[in-house]
Amino acid sequence: MTNAPVKVAVTGAAGQICYSLLFRIASGSLLGPDQPVELRLLEITPALKALEGVVMELDDCAFPLLSSVHIGDDPNDVFEGVNLAMLVGARPRSKGMERSDLLEANGAIFTAQGKALNDHAADDVKVLITGNPANTNALIAMRNAPDIPAERFNALTRLDHNRAVAQVAAKAGVPVTEVTHMTVWGNHSATQYPDLFHTEIGGRNAAELIDDQAWIENEFLPTVQKRGAAIIEARGSSSAASAANATVEHMRDWVLGTPEGDWVSMSVPSDGSYGVQEGIISSFPCTVTDGEYSIVQGLEIDDFSRAKIDASVAELVEERDAVTSLGLI
Ligand code: NAD
Ligand code: LMR
Repeated sequence: MTNAPVKVAVTGAAGQICYSLLFRIASGSLLGPDQPVELRLLEITPALKALEGVVMELDDCAFPLLSSVHIGDDPNDVFEGVNLAMLVGARPRSKGMERSDLLEANGAIFTAQGKALNDHAADDVKVLITGNPANTNALIAMRNAPDIPAERFNALTRLDHNRAVAQVAAKAGVPVTEVTHMTVWGNHSATQYPDLFHTEIGGRNAAELIDDQAWIENEFLPTVQKRGAAIIEARGSSSAASAANATVEHMRDWVLGTPEGDWVSMSVPSDGSYGVQEGIISSFPCTVTDGEYSIVQGLEIDDFSRAKIDASVAELVEERDAVTSLGLI
């Protein structure tokens, strides 16, 4: 093994998502079979004992790629020199709560962590926010880290993307590998817009092939938009293994590149593409080459899609205004 370890920070490391995520990272699912990793794990003080137990389990896997594990409750220490940061730690939504209820509770976490990344992370750091409300938490972290280029802050809508792919594959009776060019636009919330008008099934337009606007509007969209709530209702707690999987896939594609001839959904700082207001972090179709993402340009947006994208963007603007008045950005 000749590669120097990549330093990967993960927050909320004793929580549900990380109980899956950390083992995926350490086993090589994130950066491939030749890249050692150093895990740097952040928790709040009362959770450090539980985290020690998780570290014992990481040790007991004897992962060849795991060079070391460092844990702590101080972001200034844990984020020292990190190349990749996965910010998962936040209070999850419980039954009946909307994501907006979490803005105040979780916003403060991301001001402190944005500042700590600004002061201590490596120059090439990439930061992915999974903790909810993910898009606006990413905005808070980004705005509190003025020395890190804004485009290094992403939020997770890959889980929504994967959910949408799975629903379409089931409807069409094809393997998920046949479904490409999926786009989730907007916020990781019930206003998100999974767009079937550019999606392809076996290379053919998905909306045309399915040819069932009632299914798209009355079944597909609400199923994907409310999937998080459905899982909370069924499991009694929010999605964990699938969220960990999506977190790995987003960061892996951001580092190693998106599949040839396809794109993925990533929440990135808007540059005004598709009329999405600059200054928010919104989901777009993206490709990645050499570690840099680009928003796919030139897709035609019809009136139906326009209204859906605008509604989700309006929610993100409201969230941004709310955290501005809370003094978080
Ligand atoms: P969890 O409650 O099991 O774990 C969260 C952990 O974060 C806890 O161990 C807690 O101690 C820790 N934490 C809290 N404040 C922290 C801080 N300041 N620094 C470091 N750690 C801190 O929750 P979970 O199920 O792992 O979910 C984590 C977050 O991910 C939630 O906000 C959840 O809503 C969100 N989530 C997002 C998506 C998505 O697609 N974007 C999907 C699922 C869950
Ligand atoms: C999800 O989409 O599963 C998570 O964001 C949990 C939630 O609060 O919906």
